[in-house]
Amino acid sequence: MTTVLGIETSCDETAAAVVRRAAPDAPAEILSNTVYSQIADHAAYGGVVPEIAARAHVEGLDAIIARAMAEAGTGFDEIDAVAVTAGPGLIGGLMVGVMTARAICSARNLPLIGINHLEGHALTPRLTDDLDFPYLLLLVSGGHTQILLVNALGDYRRWGTTIDDALGEAFDKTAKLLGLPYPGGPAVEREAAKGDPKRFAFPRPMKGEERLDFSFSGLKTAVRREATALAPLTETDIADLCASFQTAVTDTLADRIGRAFALYRAEFGDGPAALVVAGGVAANAAIRTRLGDLCATNDFKLHAPPLNLCSDNAVMIAWAGLERFEAGETGNRDVAPRSRWPLDPSAEALIGGGRRGAKA
Ligand code: KG4
Ligand code: ZN
Repeated sequence: MTTVLGIETSCDETAAAVVRRAAPDAPAEILSNTVYSQIADHAAYGGVVPEIAARAHVEGLDAIIARAMAEAGTGFDEIDAVAVTAGPGLIGGLMVGVMTARAICSARNLPLIGINHLEGHALTPRLTDDLDFPYLLLLVSGGHTQILLVNALGDYRRWGTTIDDALGEAFDKTAKLLGLPYPGGPAVEREAAKGDPKRFAFPRPMKGEERLDFSFSGLKTAVRREATALAPLTETDIADLCASFQTAVTDTLADRIGRAFALYRAEFGDGPAALVVAGGVAANAAIRTRLGDLCATNDFKLHAPPLNLCSDNAVMIAWAGLERFEAGETGNRDVAPRSRWPLDPSAEALIGGGRRGAKA
């Protein structure tokens, strides 16, 4: 039996969770999943403010961990290891999480496993859907936009990333310039449902290109230009701008993922294959539907973890720690937080990685 406490503080969610499984081939149990979302703390600024986030983590983390332990009904003597997000992310928040985890491990003499936040997202479908390696992952959140080949535990290849804004960031910035509330994704999706997706012919950045990367800043600029020309905007204008923006996004994603499927088939041949979509933007129904259709025509099975395990949470960190612990990892009490930490060390950094990237 292995029981792991996970801690996540890399962005604007303060989260702790306890995950357990009886044996490596047994299904895992989520004993608790506690998340305090700081959305309200940042809403007035239209995005995450690093100093406010760090302060909120300091103030809230102890209580969140205590709640996760209480809900799980476990004492620290039943915990085998603590897993903490050590990067990538906002450094202030990471420091709070890592120092808290270190303190617990020192006091309780437990192994400390530093987890890459992206690995947490990447391994989640193995917990929720019992998925076997290898599979493709499309990670689309406020900080990341990546296509990853998840080949084995610790073996990830980044096939594509954004060269400027993350996709969630593009949704948030589009919402902001149209006067819609933060976070922008749900607001843009709501407006898009009422609008005409064909009214504006927005660019499909990178569509048709060989490399699997993404770019969203040109699309955002196109929306701004159109909105400025039309101002003052009517409700119909806003809905049409959102619908046209969202269609440009889904088209671009379908193009990039279609290419990734071809690469995957070239490497692994025909047979069962899977695409996992994760990150906050995966909540978008239009994106899910489009990816579902694309998977159906390419013989891929689409896996989308439930929304609460798809956006930032500590279950995914505990789970990644549990997989690593079972694989023999003994941990490192001196693990240090790092704001940049590519999951695929061979993938070169492309300039500007969203709000957790160069611009941060
Ligand atoms: O993974 P996540 O919860 O956290 C961070 O990245 O920190 O992702 C949040 C992002 C935000 O940019 C938000 O606008 C976007 O996911 N998002 C959406 C939707 N729901 C959340 N984007 C598009 N459509 C949605 N329905
Ligand atoms: Zn995330």
